[in-house]
Amino acid sequence: MKMGIPIATMATMTNKTAPAEAPLDCTLCPRLVAYRVENQQDEPGWFNAPVPSFGDENARLLVVGLAPGRTGANKTGRPFTGDWAGDLLYSTLAEFGFTDGEYGAHADDGLKLNGAMITNAVRCVPPENKPVGKEINACRPFLVSRLAELKSVKALVTLGKISHDSTLRALGLKVSAHPFGHDVHYEIESPFDGAPLHIISSYHCSRYNTNTGRLTEAMFHDVFRRAKSLL
Ligand code: URA
Repeated sequence: MKMGIPIATMATMTNKTAPAEAPLDCTLCPRLVAYRVENQQDEPGWFNAPVPSFGDENARLLVVGLAPGRTGANKTGRPFTGDWAGDLLYSTLAEFGFTDGEYGAHADDGLKLNGAMITNAVRCVPPENKPVGKEINACRPFLVSRLAELKSVKALVTLGKISHDSTLRALGLKVSAHPFGHDVHYEIESPFDGAPLHIISSYHCSRYNTNTGRLTEAMFHDVFRRAKSLL
């Protein structure tokens, strides 16, 4: 499905209002800050801060997750790292040639991403893995800037509906015109440079989705096979 973006939107989207990475002491979301402070007190050895994107600045593929898990990315400081969801995501990235090195579930495992980057729609760990609308909106300027700074990006894989919807909004697109679905593909014009940009939405590779069989490894591989074929 091919969609255009109004010129007015392009102008708006190129006015960056935030850095691509949230400051480690970000104070935009009071509930998330309170949770961060609680985690810092309980687990002073953990990262406990907005988790920066990880990967290749020349990425052609950007994977957009939801938010750090408390005992995973929030602990290790790297998206999906140490989280249940990371096992499937990193093995899939390896399967399609986007990794150099072995994923070891910790941030100093030496793993590098090759042609890919992973970011999150919400950079701070939310209580019960559930960011609220205000938090998703408050964090979106970082996603806008992340997208704007990836000059070589050709395809986005959005993991779950929250990430999908926030990515569309970050690109100035209407969610209603680009509904979320597993392995659904949209081709749009980048609001940053007008180049073709592919969005593929996927069920999130969460413990719940994989344990219930809503998402199988084969289904997840289909998404990345499609993304790779579009790069
Ligand atoms: N860990 C992340 O960093 N993001 C997710 O969406 C899930 C787990």
